[in-house]
Amino acid sequence: MLKVILLVFCATGAFGYFTLPGKCPENVPVMEHFSIPDFHGKWYQAYYYASDGQKKNNCSTLEISFKSNSDNYPVLSFNQSRIDRGLFHRYSIANVPPPAHGSQSGDLELVFNYQNAPRRLKTRKYQFRVLATNYNYYATAFTCQYSPLIDKHFIYVWILSRNPILNDVSKELAMRPLQQIGLLSEKLIRDDQSKCSPKYYDDFPTEPTTFKYPVPI
Ligand SMILES: *[C@@H]1O[C@H](CO)[C@@H](O)[C@H](O)[C@H]1NC(C)=O
Ligand SMILES: *[C@@H]1O[C@H](CO)[C@@H](O)[C@H](O)[C@H]1NC(C)=O
Repeated sequence: MLKVILLVFCATGAFGYFTLPGKCPENVPVMEHFSIPDFHGKWYQAYYYASDGQKKNNCSTLEISFKSNSDNYPVLSFNQSRIDRGLFHRYSIANVPPPAHGSQSGDLELVFNYQNAPRRLKTRKYQFRVLATNYNYYATAFTCQYSPLIDKHFIYVWILSRNPILNDVSKELAMRPLQQIGLLSEKLIRDDQSKCSPKYYDDFPTEPTTFKYPVPI
């Protein structure tokens, strides 16, 4: 599967996915005093921005929970679920290694594991950067991937809400950090959380649509 994806990528995909010129923006306003314990639980994706224009799903949620790994070490599990094309309920699971002791940065690393992939593609890491949140109503998160090969980047922004509908005040607060990365609020797309009863359920994790390419290209 991943081989196929890589081939497709080489043929056409990269040009559709990485569309913004140059490197990822610097000086992204990541939260400096971020509390993971307060962030855990379920979030609805109220709005999003994908720089490649993807609109493939609705009813996206993120669920962050604590688990222990085999050494009894606490790890965060990150469950990103969505309904693809109004039909398929799918989800992707990542682990978030605990931040370095004393670190309170909102800069999180998501680690996806693909057991059946070729060795160098088994583990894939992506950034998930929390730019703003008040933990009870809204959160703004950002990721960026850069392709040195074509010198372009891809951006995805989540406007998350604790409730299926985000109130206007929270929306306004959630949008604030986006000015600093030059993203206009008109570009955000509303995620419809109202018709969320798909026909089919996948009972195994699949690839996330927000973090696509397995190796830097
Ligand atoms: C992830 O979330 C979805 C939707 O809430 C749920 O159906 C699925 O079982 C969850 N997966 C895991 C491993 O927690
Ligand atoms: C998302 O929901 C909207 C409104 O119900 C619908 O028009 C659109 O087709 C849905 N998109 C997908 C990819 O399911």
